[in-house]
Amino acid sequence: MATVSGSPSFARDIQPLFRDKDRESMRFLFDLHSYEDVAAHASEILEELEEGEMPCDGPWPPEQIELFRRWVDEGMAP
Ligand code: HEM
Repeated sequence: MATVSGSPSFARDIQPLFRDKDRESMRFLFDLHSYEDVAAHASEILEELEEGEMPCDGPWPPEQIELFRRWVDEGMAP
């Protein structure tokens, strides 16, 4: 994952970052394992991650946030 060359893909690089707990907790807003849902809310999700607001039990490590940001910047490949 850290050695991804080229653009990150949702299925390979992004979806595995979301724990079952994250998915269950956020179901009331969107499904973190669904490409369509995460792509549709990507900018709010990135904002939460960057501010360290989500997940609420502790912020992601910077490399994970960077990977998510790169996925968004490079066109959100499925
Ligand atoms: C647009 C982005 C998001 C919004 C607006 C959002 C909002 C919320 C809200 C309102 C809650 C319930 C209240 C609370 O416990 O704070 C919640 C819970 C939670 N969210 Fe998110 N969230 C977002 C993204 C995420 C992401 C990306 C993750 C994981 C990577 C995540 C993980 C969690 C977890 C684990 C909980 C449950 C906390 C607990 O009950 O202990 N959320 N979120």
